[in-house]
Amino acid sequence: MLQSQFGNRVKEIRLGQSISQLELANRTGIERAQISKIEQGKINVTLETIEKISKALNVQLNDLLTFDNPYNVRPFVKWAGGKTQLLNKIKELLPINYNRYYEPFVGGGALFLYLAPKEAFINDINKELISAYLCFQNDYLYDSLVRELERCENEHSQEFYYRVREIDRLPNFSTLPISIHAARLIYLNKACFNGLYRVNAKGYFNVPSGNKEKVRTFDRDNFIALKKYFSSAKIHISSTDFEEVVGSAQKGDFVYFDPPYDVYPNKNGFVDYSKEGFKKEEQERLAKTFKNLNEKGVYVMLSNHNTEFINELYKDFNIHVVKAKRMINSKADGRGDVEEVLITNY
Ligand SMILES: C[S@@+](CC[C@H](N)C(=O)[O-])C[C@H]1O[C@@H](n2cnc3c(N)ncnc32)[C@H](O)[C@@H]1O
Repeated sequence: MLQSQFGNRVKEIRLGQSISQLELANRTGIERAQISKIEQGKINVTLETIEKISKALNVQLNDLLTFDNPYNVRPFVKWAGGKTQLLNKIKELLPINYNRYYEPFVGGGALFLYLAPKEAFINDINKELISAYLCFQNDYLYDSLVRELERCENEHSQEFYYRVREIDRLPNFSTLPISIHAARLIYLNKACFNGLYRVNAKGYFNVPSGNKEKVRTFDRDNFIALKKYFSSAKIHISSTDFEEVVGSAQKGDFVYFDPPYDVYPNKNGFVDYSKEGFKKEEQERLAKTFKNLNEKGVYVMLSNHNTEFINELYKDFNIHVVKAKRMINSKADGRGDVEEVLITNY
């Protein structure tokens, strides 16, 4: 149990920093095959090895030895704005105790899955993404999803990619089974260029192929852990607007808002998660929702870019500035460090 928790922790931090097993092997001087066994929990590591890994990942020893993800679950998709790399900063700012957990812009669910709360409300306007979460709650859907993903892996080619991508243009698209929607989303996320979910003005998925020869669509251990978590905890899953979801939040509950970010003046930002986008008026409506929850005694945390507009909207609350690396951007010059804010009402 301890070995597998340690292995998962190494994998979680490594993936959070977008480092390959080979890169970690080079940095530590440990063979790649050994790294793979460590991550699978097959090796009882020595203190010396733990120290080498902590130096290579540039984290403290206790970061590697803190196992607070009881189910060992991780995001199953790479998502624009994913929070894996900011988890350490977010963890420091979490409320000490809370009742139910709400994440109305769940995306890839980095924080949600890290916390693995006993009762949670997760939501995203993206129906395709939400169909994938639904599959972990139901045996039949889960089995169909796994079968469909295996089929996608076997049939993967450039031509197959574009055939799957174009399915959302078909008139009967919305009537297809949930597991087909889920498998398509996950397959496209793994096979597309840069792991990006982006739609055009008509709401059609329009990311080109990543030109990969082989595509691995899922990690079986993670899928099994996700299924176990979703069947043990009380998870309410929805696909609607953020404001509606938090309507039931009560004093003592915790809401984490991770919306599409405000854009820096004169810079392009990524807001194309859905065909509606997320404009200044939406940011204002969100700030109003934040204030209403504050008045109800709900703990609220929100992440966004460190822009003047956001600072003005939340000037009555605690604003913590953090540096983050922008991981997903189709233009190389859009990558690099950006300043973000974590805002709390507590
Ligand atoms: C920054 S991402 C969330 C990233 C997530 N925290 C993670 O770790 O992957 C923002 C998400 O908000 C969703 N979204 C956009 N507008 C929304 C709305 N009005 N209501 C609910 N969700 C919305 C998008 O589909 C997108 O998945």
